[in-house]
Amino acid sequence: MEPIPFLSLAPQHAIVHNAITEALKKGFEKNWYILGEEVKSFETEYARFTKVRHCVGVGNGYDALSISLHAFNVGAGDEVIVPAHTYVATWLAVSNCGAVIVPVEPDPATMLIDVNRIEENITQKTKVIMPVHLYGHPCDMTKIQEIAGRHSLTIIEDNAQAHGAKWKEKMTGSFGAINGTSFYPTKNLGALGDGGAITTDDDAIADFVRQYRNYGFERKNYCEVAGINSRLDELQASVLSIKLKYLDQWNHERRELASQYIERLKGVGDIQLPVTRNEALPVHHLFVIRSAKRDKLKAYLDTRQIETMIHYPLPPHLQKPYTSLNLRTKNLLLTEEIANTSLSLPLWPGMDTRQVEYVCDRISAFFSK
Ligand SMILES: Cc1ncc(COP(=O)(O)O)c(C=O)c1O
Repeated sequence: MEPIPFLSLAPQHAIVHNAITEALKKGFEKNWYILGEEVKSFETEYARFTKVRHCVGVGNGYDALSISLHAFNVGAGDEVIVPAHTYVATWLAVSNCGAVIVPVEPDPATMLIDVNRIEENITQKTKVIMPVHLYGHPCDMTKIQEIAGRHSLTIIEDNAQAHGAKWKEKMTGSFGAINGTSFYPTKNLGALGDGGAITTDDDAIADFVRQYRNYGFERKNYCEVAGINSRLDELQASVLSIKLKYLDQWNHERRELASQYIERLKGVGDIQLPVTRNEALPVHHLFVIRSAKRDKLKAYLDTRQIETMIHYPLPPHLQKPYTSLNLRTKNLLLTEEIANTSLSLPLWPGMDTRQVEYVCDRISAFFSK
């Protein structure tokens, strides 16, 4: 068997190669690179895909979250509930806007924010709940909406890892008052560089965000608000429009590969497999297993030329900028346990089922040693 990379974009890119090179050539020759027709039409298509009224393209996923927080005036004195177990960008968006991070431990089965531990963290200062649909698994949005409703809190979804996922038939990225996503190249819908978007059903918020991402210009050179520069560019938008047509198919393939992994790894060693709730349609951005023997297993798979990764080796609260924070919940033991035991296996649309079989056989061999 050839070495198995953690991720290969080659099969996806083979499908869209001609359309993308054509679009890039056209885009190059058009002499219009920022905020033009391509961005507009991608925004329309992505809004339709997510079943929301508005999509606003921005520079990256981090900006999408920061701008979303800003759009709801979140800042100093406010508290934002975030998952303790997430990619550090979620936390950075919150702390860089001046708000206080209130981390909530994950549900040990799903690794997503534990919805039964949110309410105990709500205070008079809580303004936002920011669920993260980590690894492409939707959070329990029924419960989160209930809690947010009861305490008059705003929901801002971090949908960076879950394009196309659904909770009870409704798209992630369509539950919050405003939501951010990333089109980082390795995401389920990835650009050929940085990119991100905000989704919302709120007309006024969408208008604000459209201005804010472009220096707050109400029209060229006339500022309405003190905005920033965070725009999705024309070339990336044209690439995303082409790839969006295949997203459902690619997500379907991810689910098939994940089922195969689950089938073959059930009962192997001490492996904990990803858990999907009945109400959820996941999109398996990452396929993350857990084992107490994670480090040895990773090293063993390395020697068999199977590349794996760890998402994430150091949880946000142990990252340098946060070690001095006086976080209310200091003992984030579940989060730390996940960091110490989780291992992401190779999975990408177009991956050969024989490759999955090979990875599973090697994992079984490791545990039967
Ligand atoms: C959960 C999560 N939030 C936020 C981000 C930030 O996105 P970006 O890298 O486009 O800024 C990412 C991805 O990188 C992510 O995985």
